[in-house]
Amino acid sequence: MPTVLIAGGSGLIGGHLTRHFKDRGFRVYKLTRNPSKHGHIFWDPQAEKMSTSKLDKIDVLINLVGENIGSKRWTTRRKAQILSSRVQSTHFLASMIPQMTNLKYYIGASGVNCYENLPGKVFTEDDVYGTDFLATVVKEWEAAHQLVLKQVPGSILRISMVLSRHGGSLHLMKLPIALGLGSPIGTGEQTNPWIHIDDLCRLMLFALDNNLQGTFNALGGNDTNTEMTKRLAKWLKRPLFLPNVPAFILRLILGERSILVLSDLRASNQKIKQAGFSFKYASLDSVFKSFFKKR
Ligand SMILES: NC(=O)c1ccc[n+]([C@@H]2O[C@H](COP(=O)([O-])OP(=O)(O)OC[C@H]3O[C@@H](n4cnc5c(N)ncnc54)[C@H](OP(=O)(O)O)[C@@H]3O)[C@@H](O)[C@H]2O)c1
Repeated sequence: MPTVLIAGGSGLIGGHLTRHFKDRGFRVYKLTRNPSKHGHIFWDPQAEKMSTSKLDKIDVLINLVGENIGSKRWTTRRKAQILSSRVQSTHFLASMIPQMTNLKYYIGASGVNCYENLPGKVFTEDDVYGTDFLATVVKEWEAAHQLVLKQVPGSILRISMVLSRHGGSLHLMKLPIALGLGSPIGTGEQTNPWIHIDDLCRLMLFALDNNLQGTFNALGGNDTNTEMTKRLAKWLKRPLFLPNVPAFILRLILGERSILVLSDLRASNQKIKQAGFSFKYASLDSVFKSFFKKR
């Protein structure tokens, strides 16, 4: 039975991915700081500790590790945690690769919020990194992934906002709309790339099956905040009557973290499509239908 090890597998993406890989006949282990179940393997990347007994059985390594970027205010300390949880743990994983004697493929998670702030431009993987905090994190994170990729073939996926039925960003967007208090944010014209969780899991299997190498933007589409809010309200059958939430209020409440909802980014998914991947969910309606249509 082929075996996949998911570092950071206890989170949103890891939970879905585990089911996808198990459905495909894989044995799945998760690297976690809090092992509580069968199939969990302990590690503490800060202290550079890892239980090594299963490492020689791993065929595929997927690295999803990272402190959540949206859950807490970006103080200097939090920013350092966001960065080091990704970079230091990936360095540690790279140092453990020689013990994974059966390893054939690696996937490193990264973020699509790595480009310059140039509204209107559609960014491709060939464009340079931006200079804001998230772009700097991604640059260092991807440099750390390269330390693994020097030792084993694989790919880096620049993941966009993941849409899933439960949890994640959609849960936060749904809440005010479901209460009848929804409205677009800022001008509402800012664009955000997104991907359906199933497509992201399919994409990871596709990368593995096709031995993809390189860096790929992972998004099903780009939509404005207004479009996303309107579509969501339509599928939830809730009215939208309030004026837009002014950007300055968001900046006041969220601080620098407000760029997560106010930044304007469009990215291209041509490279992964040209590699042969086809998205099952390429419009917001198809995404929301899969979540909300009564069967
Ligand atoms: N969800 C999205 O919309 C999205 C979009 C773009 C990129 N990404 C990236 O994709 C990756 C997975 O996303 P996700 O939504 O599944 O994240 P998540 O639900 O927050 O889970 C991340 C996992 O990383 C581990 N982790 C967190 N802080 C850590 C630390 N300091 N040291 C070691 N491990 C730590 C946790 O595992 P344990 O607590 O079990 O150790 C956790 O289960 C993240 O790196 C994220 O930045 C996500």
